[in-house]
Amino acid sequence: MSDQSSKSIPPDRVRGLMASELENFEAAHPRSRQMHEEAGEALLSGVPMNWMTRWPGSHPVFFAAAEGNRLRDVDGNELIDFCLGDTGAMTGHSPAPTVAAASERLRHGITTMLPSEDALPVGEEMSRRFGLRHWQFSLSASDANRFAIRLCREVTGRPKILVFNHCYHGSVDETFATLVAGETTARVGNVGPSVPLAETTRVVEFNDLEALAEALGQGDVACVLAEPALTNIGIVLPDAGFHAELRRLTREAGTLLIVDETHTFCCGPGGYTGAHGLDPDLITIGKPIAGGVPTGAYGMTDAVAERVIEHTIWEVADVGGVGGTLAGNALSLAAARATLAEVLTEEAFAQMIAMGERFEAGVQGVIDDNDLAWTVTRLGCRAEYMLGARRPRNGAEAAAAFDTELDALLHLALLNRGILMTPFHMMALMCPTTSESDVDAHTAALGEVVAALSV
Ligand SMILES: Cc1ncc(COP(=O)(O)O)c(C=O)c1O
Repeated sequence: MSDQSSKSIPPDRVRGLMASELENFEAAHPRSRQMHEEAGEALLSGVPMNWMTRWPGSHPVFFAAAEGNRLRDVDGNELIDFCLGDTGAMTGHSPAPTVAAASERLRHGITTMLPSEDALPVGEEMSRRFGLRHWQFSLSASDANRFAIRLCREVTGRPKILVFNHCYHGSVDETFATLVAGETTARVGNVGPSVPLAETTRVVEFNDLEALAEALGQGDVACVLAEPALTNIGIVLPDAGFHAELRRLTREAGTLLIVDETHTFCCGPGGYTGAHGLDPDLITIGKPIAGGVPTGAYGMTDAVAERVIEHTIWEVADVGGVGGTLAGNALSLAAARATLAEVLTEEAFAQMIAMGERFEAGVQGVIDDNDLAWTVTRLGCRAEYMLGARRPRNGAEAAAAFDTELDALLHLALLNRGILMTPFHMMALMCPTTSESDVDAHTAALGEVVAALSV
């Protein structure tokens, strides 16, 4: 726990409240508990995907139905959803235009290995929004990053990539690197690394332009893969002028710049890139662009596209490590076309960002009323509260402010009060149907929990 927060919320209070919150959780979720126990044999650890074990509480909550920003669990509890499938459902769950287009597509061929009629309009819309003219599709943002990295190494002939400390870009081997005493090392928990991370990756702290210049100066970095603001270790904003320098330094070093908009899409219809006029060589994205139907995408400039085409051996393109059997399938593209045209529109973003501002103001009120040494940071329609009296400027500072016990307690106590937050940190996302009263319900619930911790 950070020094500042321990003054505000002593650990024994956190543990005391945790005991009663766990009791309330168990009383409200008997069916989920039973399902988790029954699933213990057929599913490893009783869940279909290992991250699902990480929710607070004695077992995960099994959900029955979700619509818009409401989620109902198998015990009949209703939740206001600010997790939104941790961005996969930023559209709200099952948005009507996406469901209609996907349902129609389901009846007429899901995947064929041929381009479908929706491919062109989706490519054109991605170009219009993000300013890069050439797009390809994958099944996830992780895949989009993997393919983009491969292409950058191929066209530059350089072996390494550079990422920022405590980044997250999906299950991409080269990105699970961190800085320990200035050395690039595998992150704790990195499962089965194929080679030592220092062989593939350089890591520098976000906002550290001197270290960036030095790392790029070695001349062996094919690409920088960067979120425009870190969003997975809490939100860490770029310093003024950071992006201009990142762009200048990468150009100077002959290094390509990939901007990962998977989470920062929350800044507007063209993501952070559109909202702040960035000029990357490639963009990667995934999660909500098809309303929750699995899709990823990566786009590139004319100059990169030319180099990629030059380097492609077309006769063996199917075994080159870029693409996949189901990538660019007709269902994903039908869903993406409808989602981009009718759900994640300019008007929807304006409404979602207004709710983000209200959320931020609500949390700031709780912080001020209780004199908490916390900060709240907003990025478009996403907001996050973090421990510590001042905002972290890089991944290491953000990681140091983290308090696992308090984080678990806040998640559980809010869940018990009908609020679902993004797991693993205190982040919330607004979707087109998030209302003022939903945001205010979070503010009230947080105020109640903080009061219970302060008595
Ligand atoms: C910035 C960023 N990029 C890529 C990914 C990978 O997305 P997926 O797990 O859908 O492949 C994530 C996932 O959280 C992410 O936050």
